[in-house]
Amino acid sequence: MASSSTNINLSGATYCVLTGASQGIGRAIAVEVSKLLGPNSLMLLLARNKDELAITASLCESANVKVLFNPIDLSKASINDMNDVLNKSLAGRKVTDFTTSVIFHNVGSLGNLAVETFRMEDENELREYYDLNVFKVISLNTQFLKIFEEVEDRVVIVNITSLCAIKPMGGMAYYCSGKAAREMYFKVLAEEKKHIKVLNYSPGPVETAMIDHVLVEAVNDNLRDVFNSFKSQGTLLKPEMTAKKCVQVLQAGKFSPGEHVDYFDNE
Ligand SMILES: NC(=O)c1ccc[n+]([C@@H]2O[C@H](COP(=O)([O-])OP(=O)(O)OC[C@H]3O[C@@H](n4cnc5c(N)ncnc54)[C@H](OP(=O)(O)O)[C@@H]3O)[C@@H](O)[C@H]2O)c1
Repeated sequence: MASSSTNINLSGATYCVLTGASQGIGRAIAVEVSKLLGPNSLMLLLARNKDELAITASLCESANVKVLFNPIDLSKASINDMNDVLNKSLAGRKVTDFTTSVIFHNVGSLGNLAVETFRMEDENELREYYDLNVFKVISLNTQFLKIFEEVEDRVVIVNITSLCAIKPMGGMAYYCSGKAAREMYFKVLAEEKKHIKVLNYSPGPVETAMIDHVLVEAVNDNLRDVFNSFKSQGTLLKPEMTAKKCVQVLQAGKFSPGEHVDYFDNE
């Protein structure tokens, strides 16, 4: 891991947005982050499933942290919707009230695993995939940056990426290409805005609904074998393990702008 600058301190009044917070890695990161936040902090949790968001919120709520959640389909949300959700969550609070403002772009989907890469001809499906996983992530991030422009040097951005962003995995062309594009957007942003802390965190193979989905949907034999062996050999990480590492990496702040840091990287 490239060594650079300072620790990231979340112990002041912190504003934190987290997408894909209704389950899996997102829920685990929300819980880990919430433990660190100082008095007068505010969390905003986003995903579609309201009941599951409410559970995550109840796990994060504390004397220091007010937690709001908003059911939203991020694949369909307009720029105005995103702006509204962020602004409403701030209700009455000024951006300068927060010592740190952090956004975790954790939302993600696998794409169609039942189509082979040399037969990808459904452009609408591909477009929908890119909407959720790339375009809407960029739009939400842009709205976040607009709102916090005045205090940009207090902004922290974490993109939940994957080894698949930097290493091809047969049978996952939607996923790999989407993760690569998304990661590169954050790298370019980090290149331009050196005072904003940008981390691309790759969580490793984690036991979530996403893994089960691969086993059910994948047509690529190698892909099925890889994920079956993760399961049978018990090598999958628990969401809590990778969430702890993500927060540790973030707090230590030793990553270079936009760096891809993996769960298995040494500190
Ligand atoms: N699991 C792994 O091994 C692994 C490895 C590397 C990277 N990752 C990455 O880690 C992140 C989280 O993955 P996970 O394994 O925790 O997956 P997951 O259990 O499938 O969770 C995905 C999250 O995204 C939300 N989401 C999906 N579609 C949405 C939509 N249209 N609008 C709003 N929210 C939506 C889901 O909530 P709702 O259904 O409630 O909307 C859920 O909270 C993803 O970016 C994934 O690519 C995972």
